[in-house]
Amino acid sequence: MSLQRAISTLAISAALALPAAASDYLSTNVRFTSDNASASTRVVFVPENQSIAIEGWTAEQNQAVARAAGIEAFTGAASQHVTLIAPEGTQADHLMLAGVGNPAELSRFNAEKLGAAIAAALKPELTDVVFDTRLISNPGVAAEISAQVAHGIDLRNYRFDRYQSEPKARPETTYHWVTQSPQVAERHYEDYRAIAEGVFVARDITALPGSDGYPEAIVELAKQAMSDLDIELTIITPEQVKEMGMGLLESVSAGSQHGSYLLAAHYKGSDEAPIALVGKGNTFDTGGYNLKTSSSSILRMQTDKAGAGAVIGAVMALAKQQAPVNVVAIAPLSHNLISGSATLPGDVVKAGDGTLVEIANTDAEGRLILGDANWYANDAFKPRAIANIATLTGSKVGALGTGYAAMFASADDLRAAIIEAGKVTDEKVWELPLEGYPGIIDSPLADIRNIGSPGTQAGAAFLKHFAGDTPWIHIDMAADAMVSSPTGIHPAGPTGFGVRLLTEWVHQLNK
Ligand code: BES
Ligand code: MN
Ligand code: ZN
Repeated sequence: MSLQRAISTLAISAALALPAAASDYLSTNVRFTSDNASASTRVVFVPENQSIAIEGWTAEQNQAVARAAGIEAFTGAASQHVTLIAPEGTQADHLMLAGVGNPAELSRFNAEKLGAAIAAALKPELTDVVFDTRLISNPGVAAEISAQVAHGIDLRNYRFDRYQSEPKARPETTYHWVTQSPQVAERHYEDYRAIAEGVFVARDITALPGSDGYPEAIVELAKQAMSDLDIELTIITPEQVKEMGMGLLESVSAGSQHGSYLLAAHYKGSDEAPIALVGKGNTFDTGGYNLKTSSSSILRMQTDKAGAGAVIGAVMALAKQQAPVNVVAIAPLSHNLISGSATLPGDVVKAGDGTLVEIANTDAEGRLILGDANWYANDAFKPRAIANIATLTGSKVGALGTGYAAMFASADDLRAAIIEAGKVTDEKVWELPLEGYPGIIDSPLADIRNIGSPGTQAGAAFLKHFAGDTPWIHIDMAADAMVSSPTGIHPAGPTGFGVRLLTEWVHQLNK
């Protein structure tokens, strides 16, 4: 490693103040026990229309709770929650009642959302909180719900606050889960915790501002985040990108002092052919010479690397779970800036697979870097499936807003699995058609061009060209990478969209 390179690597780590370990994302502790515990705040999970009898509390105290619950119209319906002053003589100050409806029918996502709502309602200065799930009679169901609610709490407690000189104190609470089968609950929770840590890394990657989160810095961040996992990292440097002929990937950073990288993170938990998760890592999108000219269109374009965050986070989650799957995250990383060396509209560039591409619009850069990444995925890994995920088109936002991501699929089993994964995780997808647009990316000048109409389909058609015959899906997650105010499992800021979806998709395919 050259001295220059060593210096810049050090500078990256110091400037970013990265968490030393994934566990540093949260300052909370989670414990599972079958013994009753006491704390100033007790949260009791109540099935719908069930009488509330808290162990160790007298008949009078429980009656006082029933009266207060009645006044607050609390029935135990799923997602209802109220905070009451605990009755005189109990060891608690506050009693929160949390409805779980019919516990056997409570969905994973509704349990997570309930956890997020509880996290938002709990004061961060609490040192201990007791969660009591023993009114849920089936121990297996109670264990599952405990883990899912605890996961929802974790997802909501994340903060991206490293750019605040005096960040608000994070909760340092110990959460005591009192449940009939604590070992089972803890086992479930560990699988969810793996997902949460993948989501946190994806959120960090998404949120890093464009001048700090350039391609090499993301490589460095990913390297640190994955250092203690059974993941084989391949780092393709800008020089190697050029040598390997990935002209599309190279061209997007041509105007930046930071060249394009490609990162491959391989977790091999089975001997089957791998599944390739290929995510857009455009670390900032100015549009290039097709400059984003309105202040609102260029602001927050650091989130254009959210697809890379999603695939890195998903592979981390699966590796932490030690899932019996073979997956590789592939993240092409670019910096779409302008200068005298930037690509010009109308230039023709040669892709890794030899295709000559007319760059009709430098702002349609995501498909360029993903095109070469799909070619690389096939060439280096011979995958059994490719999933693209990207903040790819403004047209997607016009068509579906943020309620759904757009989805394209070339194979029935992949399609069915992603739709199901969307329902399970509430990262919902809606399929758009790709048949019926002949010539959508035809070029009058070169082999193909990088734009066409309709916009979302043109992006998809371009990616599919480079996926070749490999069964393929594509998720256009434009505008899903960030929320401006807290929503459900997300604090305000980066969402980590796609980590939960892709992790579940891989599990669904492995069923
Ligand atoms: N990163 C943008 C897409 C985007 C837009 C994401 C808004 C999130 C919010 C992408 O690179 C882009 O600029 N797409 C252009 C393509 C067009 C020039 C063909 C678009 O959709 O406007
Ligand atoms: Mn763009
Ligand atoms: Zn973009």
